[in-house]
Amino acid sequence: MTHTIDKAVAILRAGGLVAFPTETVYGLGADTGNPEAVRKIFAAKGRPAEHPLIVHLASAKHLSEWAIEIPASAYELAAAFWPGPLTIILKRARRVPDAVTGGQATVGLRVPAHPLALRLLRAFKGGLAAPSANRFGRLSPTTAEHVRQELGERVDLILDGGPCPVGLESTIVDLSSGRPRLLRPGGVTVAQLSEVLGVVPELGGRDAPRASGTMKSHYAPHTPARLLGLGDIIGLSQGAASARLAVLAYHPQPVGLASVVWRTLSAEPAAYGRRLYAALHELDALGCDELLIEAVPDEPAWLAVADRLRRATTRAKRE
Ligand code: TXA
Ligand code: MG
Repeated sequence: MTHTIDKAVAILRAGGLVAFPTETVYGLGADTGNPEAVRKIFAAKGRPAEHPLIVHLASAKHLSEWAIEIPASAYELAAAFWPGPLTIILKRARRVPDAVTGGQATVGLRVPAHPLALRLLRAFKGGLAAPSANRFGRLSPTTAEHVRQELGERVDLILDGGPCPVGLESTIVDLSSGRPRLLRPGGVTVAQLSEVLGVVPELGGRDAPRASGTMKSHYAPHTPARLLGLGDIIGLSQGAASARLAVLAYHPQPVGLASVVWRTLSAEPAAYGRRLYAALHELDALGCDELLIEAVPDEPAWLAVADRLRRATTRAKRE
């Protein structure tokens, strides 16, 4: 493995792209300090250049190298949740290139918790700009195989760290403008953030900084998908003529509905979240006419999952 990490570092230093596992999803990494390398990320993903990337660091010690005017709350959140599934938006230091921030005055920073990501970051000794390693607008990858399917030859090396243990992208909190704002729900919950911040973060408003994860049609499968209650799903499934319907639920398949592909995830939100993207990838690959997804409970613990399901089922303009 040391050999592989060395190879990854050599590729990154030479301006190449390395996909690596994090505890949330796989990232597509490049040297933050090399705008040419960063541009390759946008080309590989098909992502518009103005969408900013998260800079991954080996430790919170490096925070002050990448951001300025850092509030105490940033250090408190870092101490509480790093390494871990939290991205903090701060005013950027001058060294962060425009190619990374999409020209914005802020930068997203995160110390990931995956051992392989940390080994890579320590060996690289710099910041790794990395979005999720999927094509723009598509499902995030939670296995090395997902990355291979999505990006294949566009990546110079894929580090395989097995399935991602959190499975949903990091929580993003914006601390760049006085009042903390939640831009994307994720593995670190609003309750956890509030406890450390001493206030409940606002939900990202219309003037929130650009975040492609905040676009309605993000994280979408190819198969048209609808979010429905269990009763409606059972009703539609009973009427289904053939196995052209796939169902993703947290309730088990009722007896007598053999004509649909029914996939049940955990009724516990963290376990559900861990398996969500893998399940969507699998069901999407069946090529069914429609995917029916059971709406999850309207409770704080389900916020991150509900957010991703809403996006997966919003068939807005596709990129
Ligand atoms: O868990 C994660 O965050 C994963 C892993 C690889 O770390 N990364 C990830 O990156 O999800 P990406 O690019 O797919 O989503 C990051 C989101 C995007 O919506 C981006 O626009 C937003 O973070 N973002 C990055 N920098 C920002 C900034 N300065 N202001 C506002 N949003 C920002
Ligand atoms: Mg993404």
